Amino acid sequence: MGFFRELGDRVVGAPSILAADFANLAEEVHRAQAGGAELVHFDVMDNHFVPNLSVGPVVAASLVKATNLPVDAHLQVERPDSLIPAFVEAGVTSICVQPEAATHLHRTLAAIRGAGLEAGCALSPTTPPEILEWVFPYLNYVNVMSVNPGFGGQRFITEMVEKVRRVREMTCLPIQVDGGISARTAPLMVEAGARVLIAGSAVFQGDPAAEMQRLIKSGRRAL
Ligand code: DX5
Ligand code: ZN
Repeated sequence: MGFFRELGDRVVGAPSILAADFANLAEEVHRAQAGGAELVHFDVMDNHFVPNLSVGPVVAASLVKATNLPVDAHLQVERPDSLIPAFVEAGVTSICVQPEAATHLHRTLAAIRGAGLEAGCALSPTTPPEILEWVFPYLNYVNVMSVNPGFGGQRFITEMVEKVRRVREMTCLPIQVDGGISARTAPLMVEAGARVLIAGSAVFQGDPAAEMQRLIKSGRRAL
């Protein structure tokens, strides 16, 4: 099975560690877990697909050992194929790629699933959901990005509520939302069909347990 296959219609919280204190990563994740987090969102950035640079498989492997939560790697990189084996080896349970950066998307998703992991696609704000039309059978989840990939703490792009609704009409796969998700924006996204609430700054800029709990509660109220 797997996290996304077993999710059903639940609303869950996934802290994005990009906004965490990297010197205390395990502790930060434990705090978010105390507030109800069920999945860890791990942002990988390469300074090519996005202007920012973050962490890679070595840090993922350490984090996997330090938490009992599943770790979901969001690859915001060019040529994601070459990184997949290292993330599989690191022990993450799912990998999400940007179709804009994958030359042969079917092959990329097949490589992730072939390794026994769940596979996702993250759509940048202006990428039409129709790009996924022929790969739904090879996907376990869709990430609708509500900011441009690359940085935490950006402003929520309101039009993405309608995009979630469109993706919901196209598939019954679980939808994650990523970018500017807070106790204010989460209900809008859940109402439109999102079930996995990814949040960085909204969780780690305050007390991670309390903020995680607040976010999940506000999302669940919209069900
Ligand atoms: C942006 C990342 C997000 C980011 C979200 O490229 O994919 O996961 O950490 O950060 P917030 O929640 O601060 O918008
Ligand atoms: Zn992300």
